[in-house]
Amino acid sequence: MDTINREVGLIKNVLSPYDFDRLRMHFKNNPILDSMGTDEFGRKLLGDKAEPILQEFSELLLPKVREYFNTKTCVTSYSLFAEYSDETISLEKHKDVNACTYTLDLVLYQGDPWALYIEGKPYIAKPNEAILFMGEEYEHWRETLYNNTGKIGVIFFHYVEPDHWFITEPKEKHDEIRRQMAIERNLS
Ligand SMILES: [Fe+2]
Repeated sequence: MDTINREVGLIKNVLSPYDFDRLRMHFKNNPILDSMGTDEFGRKLLGDKAEPILQEFSELLLPKVREYFNTKTCVTSYSLFAEYSDETISLEKHKDVNACTYTLDLVLYQGDPWALYIEGKPYIAKPNEAILFMGEEYEHWRETLYNNTGKIGVIFFHYVEPDHWFITEPKEKHDEIRRQMAIERNLS
């Protein structure tokens, strides 16, 4: 069995300039975002069901994720685009309760860099750079920014091993599993 690389990492030049531009331009100034409201963290989210380009790039990045974490067996789970655009933006301290064993956080566009804290340490990625970490194991958050004037576009690409509940359990059970895990986490 391979030994999984559990280190948090930063990789540069994640995608070729052509691929990165295609992905960035797909989301930047996308009219769908104009009609959406922001959530409690001041951001708008688009999932891979609505945006199949996310799944396409998740597959494209799979070899990089396997190489980084030193696993030959992980597979894509789901991915999510987020655009932080409110004047006050934040991300609460949490561990993921979803299918996020391995996470690749890719920055698409931003004004000033906005650090992602993982287990107390700040990590800063620029466009076409990504932070890699184990989302279910490590606490991560962003410090609240009260005077944001720009738009920060990022994508969370998530991967799991084939024995993860996301793969082994039927889809209709997933919401219940996530709910249970969130309850257990709050109790511990
Ligand atoms: Fe998370």
